[in-house]
Amino acid sequence: MELFGSAASPFVRKVRIVANEVGLDEGMVWHELTTSPVDPHLGLAESNPLVKMPAMKTGNGQVLYDSRVICEYLDSLGNVVQIFPERADKRWHALCQQALGDGIMDAAVSIRYEQNIRPYENRWDEWIEGQLGKIRRGLDRGEAEAYSLSDTPHIGAITLACVGGYLDFRFPEENWRHSRPTLANWYDRFSSRESMLLTNHIVQESR
Ligand code: BEZ
Repeated sequence: MELFGSAASPFVRKVRIVANEVGLDEGMVWHELTTSPVDPHLGLAESNPLVKMPAMKTGNGQVLYDSRVICEYLDSLGNVVQIFPERADKRWHALCQQALGDGIMDAAVSIRYEQNIRPYENRWDEWIEGQLGKIRRGLDRGEAEAYSLSDTPHIGAITLACVGGYLDFRFPEENWRHSRPTLANWYDRFSSRESMLLTNHIVQESR
């Protein structure tokens, strides 16, 4: 299997965490690359028409995208733990937490684009504020649901952990832990998992 994406992407991290949890990370070849809407990676475009990371080539040559599809695929192959719960109540809860975390990460990454790629004179502060609103409301929902999070690495927990890691990495001034103590405590415990330590954005950036 081959994974295409950047270590800085929270969505790539999500896939790498799942791969480690299900015991498939060692068999995966990783191609580090960068892409953006204004500078699309041409090789990635051949695999994923949206030219977004992550994309993954499976052992039989099929290309999968996006992170949700890749994570579910990896879960279907692994037999160490089950990342997508099967039982209805647990499943919908975990999938909704995944959607919440993905939405927060989408908002955060789009702010990065706005602040780092868009020409300074075209920046739109109200739009950035709108994205920050999604992040803050999303985190508040995470805090309200944090009582249900444990050491179990289901897809909802993994995605919310990727949120915390990405905000620490790119938005430390946001101080997301403030007023969200239950989520922060859970995140700090979950972060000691091998899968989280091996994929930590800040450690990888410093290498
Ligand atoms: C980042 O540098 O924050 C980043 C890189 C790739 C995808 C998403 C975010």
